[in-house]
Amino acid sequence: MITKISGGSAPRPPAPIAQDTRPSVTFIPADAAGVARIVIDRPGDPVNAIDVRLMEDFAAAIAAARNARPRGLVVSSGKEGQFVAGADLSLLRGTSQSDIEKASRSMQRVLNDLAALPFVTVAAINGPALGGGLEIALACDTRIAADAPNVRVGLTETRLGLIPAAGGTQRLPRLIGLPRALDMILTARQLAPKRALRAGVIDEVVHPAVLLRAAIDHATRDTKRKPKGGATVVERAATHFAPARAIALRQARSRTFAETKGRYPAQLAAIDAVAIGLAKGIDAGLDAEARAFGELAIGETGRSLTALVMLTLRQRKAAFEGLGKPRAIANVGVVGLGFMGSGIAQAAAASGLRVRARDRDAAAVATGLSSIRALTTDATKKGVFERREAARIVGRVTGGPDLSGFHNADLVIEAVFEEMATKRRVIAELEQVLRPEAVIATNTSALPIAEIAREARSPERIVGMHFFSPVHKMPLIEVVRPAAADADAVATAVAAAIALGKTPIVVSDGPGFYTTRVLSTMIGEAFTMLAEGDSIEAIDRAMTAFGWPVGPLQLVDEVGLEVAGHAGETVAKARGMTAPTIVQQLVAEGFKGKHKGGGFYRYDGGRRTPNPRVRELLGAPTHPAAGDIAERLTVTFINEAARCLDEGVLRSPGEGDLGAVLGLGFPPFLGGPFRYADAQRQRVVTTLERLAASRGDRLLPTESLRSRRPFFSL
Ligand code: NAI
Repeated sequence: MITKISGGSAPRPPAPIAQDTRPSVTFIPADAAGVARIVIDRPGDPVNAIDVRLMEDFAAAIAAARNARPRGLVVSSGKEGQFVAGADLSLLRGTSQSDIEKASRSMQRVLNDLAALPFVTVAAINGPALGGGLEIALACDTRIAADAPNVRVGLTETRLGLIPAAGGTQRLPRLIGLPRALDMILTARQLAPKRALRAGVIDEVVHPAVLLRAAIDHATRDTKRKPKGGATVVERAATHFAPARAIALRQARSRTFAETKGRYPAQLAAIDAVAIGLAKGIDAGLDAEARAFGELAIGETGRSLTALVMLTLRQRKAAFEGLGKPRAIANVGVVGLGFMGSGIAQAAAASGLRVRARDRDAAAVATGLSSIRALTTDATKKGVFERREAARIVGRVTGGPDLSGFHNADLVIEAVFEEMATKRRVIAELEQVLRPEAVIATNTSALPIAEIAREARSPERIVGMHFFSPVHKMPLIEVVRPAAADADAVATAVAAAIALGKTPIVVSDGPGFYTTRVLSTMIGEAFTMLAEGDSIEAIDRAMTAFGWPVGPLQLVDEVGLEVAGHAGETVAKARGMTAPTIVQQLVAEGFKGKHKGGGFYRYDGGRRTPNPRVRELLGAPTHPAAGDIAERLTVTFINEAARCLDEGVLRSPGEGDLGAVLGLGFPPFLGGPFRYADAQRQRVVTTLERLAASRGDRLLPTESLRSRRPFFSL
């Protein structure tokens, strides 16, 4: 039921009384063809997020429909391009388990009433139908969707550590079969209209202009029918034939357990609710669904994940705090169409921006453009874009070996080599051709922006936009604000990040900014632990077992030893420390990374084995292996994050959590370093104090951690 918070979570001015009294859902009696309508239009909420009031109004509208006995009923939205994006997450805040369970049961009752209406019901989906929004549509007999890019359907609750709780775990498998339903629920996948049609979630896709007409047609001619449980015999067997179902459920449980290592209880709870419903009937399934929902919503994982989603949604406004006015962006320039630049250009084009790109020569441009095509084709195969949209995206990017076409750019992002001189030269060239109000953003991993901008004629329009790789997957952009930057230029970079569909955090300039600084500090500690005697495998295994996506040493191999080494040195120098020399030693021997001769590991075909040269270079262990590896590295990370907040590199703990989870893979179920520090304050501080005593002052807890004041007021 719960998916997205509306603007409702963000602070907003009180609505005028007159607006408050308008209902969120209205019943419109039958037209000449005998078709009545229920229109969802929550006042003052742009996404029709479901709150208590909306459900009450919905119940009243269903009762009115039942009494009116029309020939058919269309359920639609009163908002343009917006169906129902899920439930208002603020509903969950400060509520007890039993209240949350009750809320689920009352929404289930309303949708049971909708499903039980004795005439045909049709959902007209004109925008996102997510979480509770899709559950409303699933309680109708037929679903028609507009063929528009903003239309998406999905049960996305597991992303929040929750499960669908308004019948979604029951109605979806009955409609499209167990295998596909589990896939949608467990991955929280959002489907574009045509893909949803193929999956059987949607019955017809029509041009947006005729959506209502088509829905009314269906309401007059369709008959009530029972969902079949999938399109194929195999799907129907897996849904309704107990032995086949048992196999499908067993496979789903073991796959889920392997992927989540039991840390994300929602997925397993969703499988249970589906299983109970199919074995014992829908009432038993709904009961299991409501109970699990209550438990998950107050559990630590559910709360951490929900808090993260709320932070992400609020950030769309909060990121602009203290900044100037963003300038409009339609044309983007990209300099350097390498690995990052081509990803950035593709993301910009996919967001509807026109892109002019430049690389050193025609061959480099051609390679970049073909990466952009490949990224777009891959995404199209995965159902992210429809084919026509993909062609338009590729068509929005042009490129060449010079800066022609850059004169009308509103924003230029440079992603050339990580070399100060090259970046400065590019900026000098850009200053020759750009309009004075155009913003220049540099995508550097660690070079201070003020240094890059030092020789610029107009340093006030130069900011940092630190993207993460791969750009099309990673949801974060770290916008770096150098002291000389104009507040409007920074706001423009933030607006661009949002236009690209990413979450921006705004940090101060300095070596490694926030993300590279905390990551490099943690990796530096991993190098120290290697020298002390911990093994490469033990370190990486401990971290993945703790919930990080990859171990720190494997990560260094993936990023490349030269790049990681450079970032580590930059950050260590800024703190007056000497970076461990192991990376330089490995590079000197030709071990430069996964695709460059190996690194901490050797890569032999598909096999990865620790590189024995590392221990030889490090010499005998200096300390007996001691203590919990993952704990030491994670508290090192938290301590550095807290130092960034103390020093004003970060504006808020919320941005620190977003940056760590969305950019660096800090385990999401812990909510982020600051949320985790609040939950485990005593333990984090004593661990750091114990480590500082035996391993050095660098591990002393920061002032803000020691103060014991929570980072977030609860
Ligand atoms: P890359 O080597 O794949 O691409 C650099 C591109 O810039 C090449 O196509 C090169 O021909 C072009 N180039 C170099 N000098 C140029 C010039 N004067 N004019 C026009 N084009 C020029 O490198 P990658 O990985 O894309 O990195 C680019 C930047 O992004 C670096 O500053 C890097 O630190 C940063 N970055 C890299 C990340 C990564 O994971 N690779 C992550 C975040 C930032």
